[in-house]
Amino acid sequence: MKQINVKIPALPRNSYPIYIGQNFLDTLLTKIQNDHPDRSLFIITDSNLAENNHLKKLTAEKDIPNYIINPPGEKSKHIQTVVKIIEKMEQQFYARDSLIIALGGGTVGDIAGFAAAVYKRGIHVIQIPTTTVAQADSSVGGKTGVDSTISKNAFGAFWNPRAVYIDVATLNTLDQTQYLAGLVESLKHALIADEKYFTFFEKNIDKIINRDIETLLIIAEKNCRIKAKIVAEDPTEKNKRRILNYGHTVGHAAESASRFELLHGQAVAIGIIAAGLIEQKMKLAEPDQLRRIKILLEKMKMPTKMPKNIKSNQIIQLIKRDKKAVNKWPKFVLLEKTGKALCKNQQWAHDVAPETVKDVLAKLY
Ligand SMILES: NC(=O)c1ccc[n+]([C@@H]2O[C@H](COP(=O)([O-])OP(=O)(O)OC[C@H]3O[C@@H](n4cnc5c(N)ncnc54)[C@H](O)[C@@H]3O)[C@@H](O)[C@H]2O)c1
Ligand SMILES: [Zn+2]
Repeated sequence: MKQINVKIPALPRNSYPIYIGQNFLDTLLTKIQNDHPDRSLFIITDSNLAENNHLKKLTAEKDIPNYIINPPGEKSKHIQTVVKIIEKMEQQFYARDSLIIALGGGTVGDIAGFAAAVYKRGIHVIQIPTTTVAQADSSVGGKTGVDSTISKNAFGAFWNPRAVYIDVATLNTLDQTQYLAGLVESLKHALIADEKYFTFFEKNIDKIINRDIETLLIIAEKNCRIKAKIVAEDPTEKNKRRILNYGHTVGHAAESASRFELLHGQAVAIGIIAAGLIEQKMKLAEPDQLRRIKILLEKMKMPTKMPKNIKSNQIIQLIKRDKKAVNKWPKFVLLEKTGKALCKNQQWAHDVAPETVKDVLAKLY
């Protein structure tokens, strides 16, 4: 057998800027055009962003072709939507020198990012996140994907944006439940990586809930710095990046068992409590930790108990299917203390005995 080695040079461009500010949407397109004078622009957004005038603000008087995802939200995060987008771009003769602008929440960002990753083998994308989930989480880190008829994110790619523009004022039109649920990802960042951020969260929780712009600017920056640092250390989630899944093992199971009645952030709130109870059982946590987390989640109107109609057996069955399960049992991200994820033997996700998990689930009702 002959072997020829192909050596691939390091990617020429492996970083991207995140801009954070307020009320800059109406001047942003000119900046993007100036920064990318040779690119043909195409905007992907959804009907809520259009109805709330964000699309109009972004395009101002300019005539930029777009695709408006409708219905908005998870239902449209399907490969069929990507097919429609790509065919529209083809009909309009978009070539490899194109740039997709994603204006919206995590759904739009994931769809648009994936479309950019696969269109003509990959074109540029700029993310303009407009939800608490997208500004804290999904717009940074390069994960993109859409669902198949069988499972979530069945089609996916790591595809980094050229830039991310976070305008915290866009959050003003977001529904309050969506807004609060998305903040759980911010709380998660504080818990796994930054004790000072956690105390900031506690001190400023009322301002955060009431969308105080100055506070939102601060937390947007904290979130991006934390996520960017973790992603830079482990871009393809081999190890450390897994800490971003704190609270997500039980969280994803609860989300799916509720048939998506629970919003992602609501389910993760329950998952964070479950992780906290595991930590207590394993004598990891500081005595007061879980109580402090609970107070915050309650102020954020997040559930801290498993809904009664979801049985713990269902959760056990679902966590066995966790995409990172080994021998049909997941590993758990745990905290060593507030602001610090546990790392043992250079591993960031840990074995927890099934009996411990079962005991903890019983306590969640
Ligand atoms: N790629 C990643 O790393 C990553 C990380 C976390 C979540 N996600 C994905 O993100 C998705 C969830 O994201 P999401 O919570 O942002 O959901 P979303 O994009 O569906 O937005 C929620 C709802 O709010 C509306 N909306 C968005 N911005 C608005 C605004 N400014 N004003 C008024 N309405 C607005 C949307 O139209 C939608 O109806 C999931 O599919 C999840 O898998 C991806
Ligand atoms: Zn999440």
